[in-house]
Amino acid sequence: MSNIVLDVQNISKSFIDQKHEITIFKDLSFQIKKGDRIAIVGASGAGKSTLMHVISGLDKPTSGDIYLNGHHFNKESEAKRGYLRNEYLGFIYQFHHLLPEFSALDNVALPLVIGGGDIREARAEAELLLGRVGLSHRLTHHPGKLSGGERQRVAIARALVTKPSAVLADEPTGNLDEENAHAIFDLMCEINDEVGTSLIVVTHDNSLARKMDQCWRLQDLKLTHLERSDI
Ligand SMILES: Nc1ncnc2c1ncn2[C@@H]1O[C@H](COP(=O)(O)OP(=O)(O)OP(=O)(O)O)[C@@H](O)[C@H]1O
Ligand SMILES: [Mg+2]
Repeated sequence: MSNIVLDVQNISKSFIDQKHEITIFKDLSFQIKKGDRIAIVGASGAGKSTLMHVISGLDKPTSGDIYLNGHHFNKESEAKRGYLRNEYLGFIYQFHHLLPEFSALDNVALPLVIGGGDIREARAEAELLLGRVGLSHRLTHHPGKLSGGERQRVAIARALVTKPSAVLADEPTGNLDEENAHAIFDLMCEINDEVGTSLIVVTHDNSLARKMDQCWRLQDLKLTHLERSDI
């Protein structure tokens, strides 16, 4: 397999809102290679979440093409996109999407079970990862009984549990205190070192952005590279 995880070619995204077309980004092209660590910054409303949804297949580009590990991702059926997403990507939403009826442990184990894993092994792996995000004492709690930051840490464990090709994280530490935020970034970097998972992380915290190898800014419909000294 080539070392290009995501090959994004000329993607644009527009929404139609009350008959007006709003363009969010235009003709973006980039490649994410195995092990890349990229921070994405930009003002509120610049389109960062939209971009993350489009490259993770949760939404489609208005035009352009996205290849995920060689699969023509945006041209696949909804079902195949779901399968590829579970197989190759971990996604951490700006607002967590945990399943309320499952415990923290089972929320994290689920992607492994969906991928065909044995439930006992999946739970063991989930327990390990929940330990790494500091939640060993909350395994049986359901999301409704966790704090906001704890829920976010469960969501982070869930995104990492399959050791995916890439993790796309949209403000993953937005509601965590500084110490926990840095611990989560360090954990993502450890997984990046251990298994070569690429990281694409939206953050408005420059000290977190500096933990990545590259920083891109989304502004005026385009992505630009920022020099380290400009972060
Ligand atoms: N479904 C939609 N229909 C119309 N406009 C939309 C839709 N989704 C997003 N937008 C608009 O697209 C723009 C970009 O939104 P997006 O959520 O991607 O911004 P963002 O950079 O993630 O902002 P933030 O930092 O506040 O999270 C916003 O102006 C938003 O109103
Ligand atoms: Mg956003």
